[in-house]
Amino acid sequence: MVDPTRFDEGERDALRAAFDRVLASGQLILGEELAAFEQEIAAHLGAAHAIGVSSGTDALLTSLLALGVGPGDEVIAPAYSFFATAGAIVRTGATPVFVDIDLRDFMSPARSIGARIGARTRAIVVVHLFGQPAELDPLAELAADAGVPIVEDAAQAIGARLGDHAVGTVGALGAFSFFPTKNLAALGDGGLVTTNDPALAERIRALRVHGAREKHRHEIVGGNFRLDALQAAFLRVRLPLLASKTARRAQIAARYVDRLRSCGLGAPNEGQPIPSDDVVLLPRVVRGEHVFNQFVIRVAAARRAAVRTELLGRDIETAVYYPETLPRQPALAALPDAQGSFPNAERAAAESLALPIDPGLDSDELDRVVDALATALRR
Ligand SMILES: Cc1ncc(COP(=O)(O)O)c(C=O)c1O
Repeated sequence: MVDPTRFDEGERDALRAAFDRVLASGQLILGEELAAFEQEIAAHLGAAHAIGVSSGTDALLTSLLALGVGPGDEVIAPAYSFFATAGAIVRTGATPVFVDIDLRDFMSPARSIGARIGARTRAIVVVHLFGQPAELDPLAELAADAGVPIVEDAAQAIGARLGDHAVGTVGALGAFSFFPTKNLAALGDGGLVTTNDPALAERIRALRVHGAREKHRHEIVGGNFRLDALQAAFLRVRLPLLASKTARRAQIAARYVDRLRSCGLGAPNEGQPIPSDDVVLLPRVVRGEHVFNQFVIRVAAARRAAVRTELLGRDIETAVYYPETLPRQPALAALPDAQGSFPNAERAAAESLALPIDPGLDSDELDRVVDALATALRR
């Protein structure tokens, strides 16, 4: 799915130079490298503040903590996402309240989120899944009406835009991940919180150093949630490459759609049932600019395992994001929603299949994926 040993021209040398720079500086924690990265990425995204943190998971956790979310609170989240979306809520002591998804874009519609806002709702986590912006406009309106802040989980969607705004800059806080499979990848773990609110920015900065605003004086309980200077230096090399890599992802997505449609193997995913076993449903850009962190098709549930085996037999990796819904995760079995009904999320868990979309893939490799998929579906 991702080959971390492939680099753009000059990228490897630039990463080595960044490493040497940090090594020579001796400043491994916080310091100028991190501050420079924070400034550059804040400008890139159009956010007033950007705070580097240890991972996307910790970006979500610190965001919720900065909003004061805790025991007795409810936080609304989609039933279909990576576990961190729900795990971060549970770690604050709050209760996740799940919302089913729309099968067209695998995200929770604003109207369904609105229906779950109640007296105990303290925040809404909106996930821009697979790199596509969620329905931010109606969500922002709804959240403002209810007086509930939005935390944008933009872990998969750096650079995605809706209207004039980058995702992660519309809600109270935005959480990003630099995990190596993400569009902007560190050489290890890393994350970012964005906000336009100076008070929240200050709180996140305190939370990432155990709540200490001055050394050895801890006013709130945070954690060690810092982004390493080395990772910041690597990310500074890669940030200027992000736009061209994102454009390449969109090109690959368009080529997949084109090829699969023209050979009659794919139809646009309108949220409909899959018409037959030998056809897949293809991602559509429902709104805004999609950055295609993942290219996720829908395959008949009964065929998915065989399709994956056929592709793997030809050295083509695929992935399932995600084979289980959040309410069905064993770690969340004690939640009130564990027994709830989320039929679209269940269907997505059974049918979704991510094809390789690394920007380093060339046209021949793409054609090989399409050919393999054709063979698998016609079997
Ligand atoms: C939607 C979503 N949220 C949160 C995260 C957590 O990010 P990280 O792996 O950097 O902790 C991820 C990363 O996989 C993700 O995909």
